[in-house]
Amino acid sequence: AADVEHTFVVSEMKMTHLCNETLVTVVNGQLPGPAIEVTEGDSVAVHVVNKSPHNITIHWHGLKQRLNCWADGVPMITQCPIRPGQNFTYHLNVTGQEGTLWWHAHVSCLRASLHGAFIIRPRHAYPFPKPDKEIPIVIGEWWSINLAQLGKNMEDGYYDDTSSATTINGKLGDLYNCSGVVEDGLVLDVEPGKTYLLRLLNAALYSEYYLKIAGHEFTVVGADANYVRPFTTDVVAIGPGETLDALVVANAIPGKYYMVAVGGQAPKPDIQIPATLSRATVRYAIGAGNSDEAAPPVAPEMPDQHDFMVSFNFHGNLSSLNRTGSPPVPATADESLFVVLRMGSICRQGRLSCKRSGSKESIIVETMNNVSFQLPAAAAATPLLEELYYDNRRNGTAGGGGGGLDQLYMLPDRPARPFNYTDRALIPWGPNEAWLEPTEKAAVARRFRHGAVVDIVFQNAAMMDTDNHPMHLHGHDMFILAQGHDNYDTVRDVAKYNLVDPPLRNTVLVPRLGWAAVRFVADNPGVWYMHCHYELHVSIGMAAVFIVDDGPTLESALPSPPVDFPKCNQ
Ligand code: C2O
Ligand code: CU
Repeated sequence: AADVEHTFVVSEMKMTHLCNETLVTVVNGQLPGPAIEVTEGDSVAVHVVNKSPHNITIHWHGLKQRLNCWADGVPMITQCPIRPGQNFTYHLNVTGQEGTLWWHAHVSCLRASLHGAFIIRPRHAYPFPKPDKEIPIVIGEWWSINLAQLGKNMEDGYYDDTSSATTINGKLGDLYNCSGVVEDGLVLDVEPGKTYLLRLLNAALYSEYYLKIAGHEFTVVGADANYVRPFTTDVVAIGPGETLDALVVANAIPGKYYMVAVGGQAPKPDIQIPATLSRATVRYAIGAGNSDEAAPPVAPEMPDQHDFMVSFNFHGNLSSLNRTGSPPVPATADESLFVVLRMGSICRQGRLSCKRSGSKESIIVETMNNVSFQLPAAAAATPLLEELYYDNRRNGTAGGGGGGLDQLYMLPDRPARPFNYTDRALIPWGPNEAWLEPTEKAAVARRFRHGAVVDIVFQNAAMMDTDNHPMHLHGHDMFILAQGHDNYDTVRDVAKYNLVDPPLRNTVLVPRLGWAAVRFVADNPGVWYMHCHYELHVSIGMAAVFIVDDGPTLESALPSPPVDFPKCNQ
């Protein structure tokens, strides 16, 4: 195994797209940022040098971080942010995982420009024929508005901003132009008969994407750095935070073909938002039979972007490629949780009461079991992980006497109030305050014994009739046991659980107006964020922290924090 080192210099730079010059925060002057490419078992050190005016942390999305929670990169949950002018080195190990993951800033909307692929190759061989070439495909967004401002707007309850374009590997593509200047698109040069491994990730803040290449099929072989049983499809669906490995054989008539990404959208009547569309070109080499360089590329026929069944079916088709060494699915769970995902409303700050219909007085939040996540106030001084590690409740040292821990609110395993959303016809498009439950904010947490097998059913109560929720768990992979429409039914739906070859993922896409059931083993001591990967949803509270192993046992299980660990107040 090798030692791999990277230096990430975070700084601001000006970029111009669509006639607009925007200040963006990037790593090493690149958007998307540099890909980290390693072999399973390597040790990785990433030196982050923060030359930007922002507080930064980097999260290694999907890396299990076994006994390495200190390097998980979630501000005030696992670490103090790296402040402007400061440096910090993340030490990572990539044992037992193969495939495509990614890294991103875990600082509100800044991740829209601070992200890149994290590719882990096998030490020996792929469980499929070796591809001739590997190509990272990063689906993202271009925002003409300043991303730090966007983050503030979201937290203040303004969420009318939309991205200016969809991007593929940072390029907007030829569907976008301004004053006659057509944007560059990605061009992938291919040779007839060769096999390409596309390493796909969705770094967008907002949309799930459907991706197609005219005249070609994908054979999906991996998801979230776990191998899946190969299945062939002409369209892939990829939610925010998800990653996929897919083989594409250049077996069409030599020519040019568009690769199109279109954002999945709620069935809002008659509206197509053009900013959720981008295209790249797959080009066979001239001389390889492609004689007509001037001919326009062939366009794929895209699915209806309001058709959520494309995503439901795609996700339902994934199963794990069971191999020797694959972790077995535990037959039963030690604890189970039922989590309702939906919107709620709270009064704006300073108001003791507010009319539920007065949008000036109240603010919309996202909730899990009718509580909206907010960090404990004491977290302004010490990250939760440090507080727990030193068990500040008892010795009351750093963090001012353990205030943060005392404020944790234990996530109930049912919503505080019953709900009824089965009458879909009544569900209006858009945040209709009459449908919103009054709710509150708290530092939502849940403690698990080390080694506990945990079942979670996520019920997507989508009162806004909106999206799937890609629920992402740090530090663990989850077996996705089943998904369905409408209300989860304990008896009927448990019978559907796949306990033979469920896919293992770090993100479960909970279908809109439906549910998903997962099982995971809480075997990684630490404090792990669990949240929706739509930035709007997480920034207004669709999150919780999972605490695995607590207090004195956490201290004996985890090594001490790194010596150069950032401090919050100096
Ligand atoms: Cu990719 Cu907590 O996130
Ligand atoms: Cu969500």
